[in-house]
Amino acid sequence: MARMSIFERWLVKSPFRAWLQRGEIRAFLRWADLSPHACMLDMGCGTGVSSALILDALRPPCLAAFDFDSSMVGVAYRHLARHRHQQRLHLAVADATHIPYRDGLFDAVFESGVVHHIPDWRAAVREAGRVLGPGGRFCFAEPSRRRLRRGLYRMLPHSVESMFDVEEWRSALAEAGLQVEGPLRRLPLWDICGLAMKQA
Ligand SMILES: C[S@@+](CC[C@H](N)C(=O)[O-])C[C@H]1O[C@@H](n2cnc3c(N)ncnc32)[C@H](O)[C@@H]1O
Repeated sequence: MARMSIFERWLVKSPFRAWLQRGEIRAFLRWADLSPHACMLDMGCGTGVSSALILDALRPPCLAAFDFDSSMVGVAYRHLARHRHQQRLHLAVADATHIPYRDGLFDAVFESGVVHHIPDWRAAVREAGRVLGPGGRFCFAEPSRRRLRRGLYRMLPHSVESMFDVEEWRSALAEAGLQVEGPLRRLPLWDICGLAMKQA
């Protein structure tokens, strides 16, 4: 499993990333009509900033969050330990290609910038589809292969060739039983962003 470089870890933990994440979660909430009664999953939660934002904005009765890097989960744990809704949160070390939850458990799965780190990225998309119930939403934000060859990304060690373009992403979603809703959009770091609904 590919680990992030020291530079990327520093970027992920920076206040700049936290600021961008606020915009990303707000965008997902604008695009998706997410019920506050839903059970949600934050896949590859990193520092836990996204989990805190989801808890604040949506107050889901349950939010599971995981990352495969135990040191990131440690950061997230410290970040969320005193959150007012922390009793609704279940934080774990886990791998997105083997999500440790049963089929159809979640109503929404969030991920920002996680899947392009995973060599078997199609397996992670399949797993997101598997754990969503019918009508559940997959909220994603990823860089395309083209984007990974540009700007800041060139300073980060990603295995670009094995990653995806828009069509490959769409086909992986379709294979996972996820239908894209509305247009794919762009956010400052990502050029493949949007929502997909789990089909019955
Ligand atoms: C660029 S960071 C993004 C973190 C966070 N989602 C954010 O928006 O800041 C990528 C994260 O994906 C995690 N990750 C990479 N491969 C993973 C896998 N197979 N399963 C779960 N998490 C993974 C990394 O440990 C890291 O925390």
